[in-house]
Amino acid sequence: MSAPTTSSDRGGFQSRLGFILAAAGSAIGLGNIWRFPYTAGENGGGAFIALYLLCVLGLGVPVMLAELAMGRATRHNPVGAYARLGGRRWAAAGGLGVVTGFGILAFYSVVAGWTLGYLWHAVSGTFAQPIDAKTSGALFSGLISDPVWAVVLAGLFLALTMVVVRAGVGGGIETASKILMPVFFVLLLGLALRSVTLPGASKGIAFMFEADFSKIRAPVVAAAMGQAMFSLSLGMGAMITYGSYFPRHENLVVAGVSVAFFDTLIALLGGFLVFPALFAAGIEPSAGPGLVFVVMPTIFHHLPAGQLFAVAFYALLAIAALTSTISLLEVVVSYFVDERGWRRPRAVYLVGGACFLLAVPSALSQGALPALSDVLGTGQGWLDWQSVVFGTYSLILGALLTCVLVGWRWGAEAARAVVEEGGHRLPMAALWSVLVRYVCPLAVVAVLVYVIRTGASF
Ligand code: TRP
Repeated sequence: MSAPTTSSDRGGFQSRLGFILAAAGSAIGLGNIWRFPYTAGENGGGAFIALYLLCVLGLGVPVMLAELAMGRATRHNPVGAYARLGGRRWAAAGGLGVVTGFGILAFYSVVAGWTLGYLWHAVSGTFAQPIDAKTSGALFSGLISDPVWAVVLAGLFLALTMVVVRAGVGGGIETASKILMPVFFVLLLGLALRSVTLPGASKGIAFMFEADFSKIRAPVVAAAMGQAMFSLSLGMGAMITYGSYFPRHENLVVAGVSVAFFDTLIALLGGFLVFPALFAAGIEPSAGPGLVFVVMPTIFHHLPAGQLFAVAFYALLAIAALTSTISLLEVVVSYFVDERGWRRPRAVYLVGGACFLLAVPSALSQGALPALSDVLGTGQGWLDWQSVVFGTYSLILGALLTCVLVGWRWGAEAARAVVEEGGHRLPMAALWSVLVRYVCPLAVVAVLVYVIRTGASF
């Protein structure tokens, strides 16, 4: 099959606002409301959060602009973008991104499926009665270990994602984001306000601000870097792909910085939603991936209109997840459309279907099919393992490759010219160049070497 340079199936965003909402929709997701609180909880709270903010500013924003510039310059998916800017051999870096996107989507849709299961529970009134931590834990393990539910819900979520992506960039992704993001924001503000006014909430707020820097070790730094990349949808070419649909004359700097800003704001709001509720219920913040699923149900019945709160909360999670799975699927689909000349619908069905197959072991590893995890030697941790390999280390590596390509191979000056296209100046361009060329690559390499040398397991 031929590899057309521009396919009529590509499409694009209609406006800057549409782009910002879609890109923010990609960035804002389970990463903010589910992964950020539990990762911060596992890594000591305030100190991790401080480190995280540093990673967003020093690594996230520069890489965001670099990825968007790569997309805008080439109008291609990650594989095509890397190859056009760096030569054939760099295509592999884009390939890593596409594979990573696929890998993230496979476990992400499992967790996203849980949000639908919980939404169902919320609507049907399960959380209207008092639930203690033990019952809530049993409910959670019941849901995630039921093979039918776990697989069906993940499949349902993937199907929803496929419907939107099939409708294209302007018609599907942009329209969905314009509707879903405002709803998301209103829900989140309301929920966070309610949470910080709970009795006992102040301990949760203190947890977010007390910074014990003695807890910072290399794996914690890697976790913070990885979380920043994950949350901003960086390190695997999602922003290269969205950048490739960015209108030529529009201001890329404003768009990129707004996305990073909103994403960070929402992660912090997610913290203000989860931690106060957590401490108010007397639960440990280091509970891991089950955190928001086990903790939140214990507080709903304490609240006036608790059931409404519950419905709103899981609707919030599901919406956040949907705008992110859309972007994950779009990366892989755009690869097949651009490089293989597939029609969009075909790419959507085949990629979505294949992803569902990979999601099955992840869904089942949560206890539904212990025998399978035994055979694979992954224990209960297949999903965690996918999250760490694809969602942390692969993204940091991807960020490193982006920096080397943009900073050294393509050249920071040439990239800057693309960022500034349309006559919009990049403030602190010299600083950006130093960050992309030296600081980010060195920081990433240092952390990776350290993690490998100390054999930190994950
Ligand atoms: N950023 C999303 C979140 O925070 C997840 C996500 C969507 C993502 N697209 C991505 C992560 C691309 C890494 C790369 O939930």
